[in-house]
Amino acid sequence: MDAGYRQKYSPRYRDPVLQTGACLFAIQGHQLSHQKFLHRPVEMSKTELGDVTPHNIKQLKRLNEVVFPVSYNDKFYKDVLEAGELAKLAYYNDIVVGAVCCRIDTSENSRRLYIMTLGCLYPYRRLGIGSKMLEHVLNYVQQDGNFDSIFLHVQVNNEGAIDFYKKFGFEIVETKEHYYKRIEPTDAHVLQKTLRPKITNGVKNGDEKKDNEK
Ligand code: ACO
Repeated sequence: MDAGYRQKYSPRYRDPVLQTGACLFAIQGHQLSHQKFLHRPVEMSKTELGDVTPHNIKQLKRLNEVVFPVSYNDKFYKDVLEAGELAKLAYYNDIVVGAVCCRIDTSENSRRLYIMTLGCLYPYRRLGIGSKMLEHVLNYVQQDGNFDSIFLHVQVNNEGAIDFYKKFGFEIVETKEHYYKRIEPTDAHVLQKTLRPKITNGVKNGDEKKDNEK
């Protein structure tokens, strides 16, 4: 998380209309007239998701640089361009303020959806934008019907994100020491939402406990 950015834009900009101006400035480097935004009614604000394309991929890169403490390489962005519904930009009043990027993981004998990044610019948090992106992902896996689980890594001190995911039924299933190389703390939790129980030797994981209890 960029401390300078947070300090500059966070507590003073409680009004989403002013926040819109602040972030447009941050992302696109435009000088803004507050006057233009002060007259726009808050009720008109709306969130929409849009595709990632070669035309807006730089906005995704810039957003990820601001939101996440780790950087992503060219292959990440090349793959994102091929990801279809698994990569989306979030627009708030037509301005890019968030993004989600996922990929399909077929390791460990399962088909899982891995959320690589899901983030929203600081002034736009707690407005339901993260939920909108995660609901898109949850709808995707539900419609596909062939995923075992959804998972992601999160830094152990990222309590806000952990609370956010728990609200959607994710659980901490593992903690990996020294998962991150260049940021502190280096440990990561694996958060997972199980969609269908794993079958081991013909026994569903969830059923094992019931049998032992008898
Ligand atoms: N503290 C406690 N609970 C929270 C927090 C928080 N900081 N943020 C969200 N929640 C919970 C609340 O229950 C909230 O409902 P409420 O506002 O009615 O109380 C609910 O989640 C939904 O919140 P949203 O407004 O939909 O979430 P938001 O748009 O703020 O996005 C996110 C949440 C994505 C975690 C945001 O804080 C963010 O971008 N953080 C920086 C990037 C990041 O850490 N991403 C996640 C980890 S990395 C990864 O996902 C792979």
